[in-house]
Amino acid sequence: MRASPAHDVPEECTVTSTSLPDSLIATLPGASYTDPGIFAQEQEHIFEAMWFCAVRASELPKPGAFRTVQVGRESILITRARDNSVRAYFNVCRHRGARLCTQESGEVKRAFQCPYHAWTYDLTGKLVAAPNLTKMPDVGRTEYGLASVAVREWLGYVWVCLAENPPPFDEVVQEVVTRLGDTESIEHYDIDNLQVGRRITYDVKANWKLIIENFMECYHCATIHPELTEVLPEFADGYAAQYYVGHGAEFGEDIQGFTVDGSEGLDRIPGVSEDQDRRYYAITVRPQVFVNLVPDHVIFHRMYPVAADRTVVECDWLYLPDVVQSGKDVSRSVELFDRVNRQDFDACERTQPAMSSRLYAKGGVLVPSEHHIGAFHDWVQARLGAQPR
Ligand code: FES
Ligand SMILES: [Fe+2]
Repeated sequence: MRASPAHDVPEECTVTSTSLPDSLIATLPGASYTDPGIFAQEQEHIFEAMWFCAVRASELPKPGAFRTVQVGRESILITRARDNSVRAYFNVCRHRGARLCTQESGEVKRAFQCPYHAWTYDLTGKLVAAPNLTKMPDVGRTEYGLASVAVREWLGYVWVCLAENPPPFDEVVQEVVTRLGDTESIEHYDIDNLQVGRRITYDVKANWKLIIENFMECYHCATIHPELTEVLPEFADGYAAQYYVGHGAEFGEDIQGFTVDGSEGLDRIPGVSEDQDRRYYAITVRPQVFVNLVPDHVIFHRMYPVAADRTVVECDWLYLPDVVQSGKDVSRSVELFDRVNRQDFDACERTQPAMSSRLYAKGGVLVPSEHHIGAFHDWVQARLGAQPR
């Protein structure tokens, strides 16, 4: 599924790299990271058109539990119906448009009632009550029920798609195959059944693409990630785990676990194979998910782009249920990637202000170990209807 090419893309988006030395290719121009008009196009043609990883399924432990999330320009209400199925709706009252749920999360007994004129919807979205509704027998309870959104569960997360005709979910799975070579490799980590040991939410003052670009390369690792390069010495060379298909970065010889000081981690996830042991794999699932796999836990990032220069990142550290339930100390493993996140997000925030500098009007450059980011830029351009550069 591709965005319609009918709308305008600003001229500066079609930068060419013809005048650059062979070692370098151009990034997107500065405006791509600052222009609210371009951001609105990205919301429409990327976040509202593709599968979007919204919440951890365990955040909806029983019927009536709900969470609201921003997907593109829309607020989406995600809940669980009486039959335990997950449902997602536009968080918009069908009467006169009031936002139905203003809380980020909560629980209702059996229905959502609009706080304005009390139109009331059951967990399947059907309009079940409203003042004087019985005097309006011609009002369809389903037709004027909540508008639903496509839902899938995968890896223990609820993915939603706002498109009228959602693309096949296979496109999402394919992102993992492209990176790891197959789907079995990720199944070994049994992510569905891991539990959230820690969640940290970061409010990053940077464009979502800067965060993806940063995640895709390791040219910066030696400079800003002292703890990570200690644990994964090959990262000091600047080649990201995402550079080669199927490659996982190996732990250093005297490293016992994926922890802030290289000390012992937790119990290995039973399905993790011998050749995945003592290795770190990183996957980008476009447009807004990063997954990091290590033998004893999984670090799962979801980005919620909220403005051209602001992105909220929710990061879950997932462990075996035994580890979480027994209250084992996970702080050293959490601290490693929490530091990495802060180091990365600081770097992105340091870059964001320069995106509107006139010096960056035509963008910056990518060195060979970052050239694969060029394919990400081409992909963004194609989604917005521009020709690849
Ligand atoms: S806007 Fe919701 S009941 Fe009137
Ligand atoms: Fe980094």
